[in-house]
Amino acid sequence: MGDRFLTLTEMVQAARSNLHRNDWDYLVGGAETESSLKRNRAGVESWLFKPRVLNDVSEVSARTSILGQEVRLPVVLPPIGSIQVFHEGGGAAVARAARDFGVLQVLSSVCEPDFETVAEKVPGPRVYQLYLMQDQAWMDGIIRRAVDAGYTGFCLTADTQVYSRRERDILKRHVPASGRQAGANDFAYQARMSWDTVAHIKERYDIPLIVKGVARGDDAARCVDMGVDVVYVSNHGGRQLDHTRACIDALPEVVDAVRGRVPVWVDGGFMRGADVVKALCLGADAVGMGRFEALALAAGGAEALVNALEILEHEVCTAMALAGVSSLNDLNRELLVREAPLAPSHVLSAFPLIDDY
Ligand SMILES: Cc1cc2nc3c(=O)[nH]c(=O)nc-3n(C[C@H](O)[C@H](O)[C@H](O)COP(=O)(O)O)c2cc1C
Repeated sequence: MGDRFLTLTEMVQAARSNLHRNDWDYLVGGAETESSLKRNRAGVESWLFKPRVLNDVSEVSARTSILGQEVRLPVVLPPIGSIQVFHEGGGAAVARAARDFGVLQVLSSVCEPDFETVAEKVPGPRVYQLYLMQDQAWMDGIIRRAVDAGYTGFCLTADTQVYSRRERDILKRHVPASGRQAGANDFAYQARMSWDTVAHIKERYDIPLIVKGVARGDDAARCVDMGVDVVYVSNHGGRQLDHTRACIDALPEVVDAVRGRVPVWVDGGFMRGADVVKALCLGADAVGMGRFEALALAAGGAEALVNALEILEHEVCTAMALAGVSSLNDLNRELLVREAPLAPSHVLSAFPLIDDY
């Protein structure tokens, strides 16, 4: 990569010019009317800061630990299927960036290279995300292989029991590299997943289990009762069920239901440092940034992703300092108030200088 980016806007501009329209639309698009996608951003943009002043903010730190791993930011890089189409390094390039910068990666089960190759190329703590492609015996085999390969957590994605209708792709007859599309028959097992699947994994394996795609308090409480180790609030970046609440709006209900018993992660529409700080104020322990991860990778591989994470860290610490807070422990709901967003929100409204999305 040539010059380093000084802003996240430059990172997104580079991604836009590097990607073919089909891959761009697969990345930024959502399901059907894309209302869940837009609501994710509208939700994030609806929360405003009520900053405190005259606190000493000369030493601000956003360092913490996630699943026992020291990280520089309370951010996770979520699973992105077919990520190798955005940059040839795929999941291994994300692994390198996550290690070099110091955040946790959740590797998708539908990307390249495969999970064992990634673990071999870039050893280190990492979570493996699974779609149930075959029966339970198959899943058991995969979990054992993931543990043997050194994965430190296991993520079950619960919001994708069937594949949604993503019209940007369907209109162009574009099939993602994973081959997954609306109506595909490899969803037969995924569709049969149930709470028994969670019980089965918890009974047999001593690896932290993350359930991703939780959207309401009662499901979150059920996860905790069943021994799930992390409740992950997500609507798949607005790519699955259309007309859901913004994830940031489902977050307080989930946080209240979980009552601090396990960590709560959230993703959906978080693109900037200030966005991350808002989620932390509302009780999230970590924030996933899916399109951020893929756009940065598309902009220039692992190096660009590290560059983007460094800018993000600066934005997070700047937002904390200007809100009058120097420690993650002091972020709370009292720092926020809700108002209507300034303008209609969309997937890239965090980057108002870019108009081609
Ligand atoms: C291109 C793309 C592919 C994705 N593939 C997966 C996947 O394989 N497994 C999964 O659990 N979630 C997948 N997701 C959802 C992300 O993990 C994450 O929940 C979402 O991107 C968060 O929203 P954001 O993009 O607004 O940050 C994908 C998202 C995108 C954008």
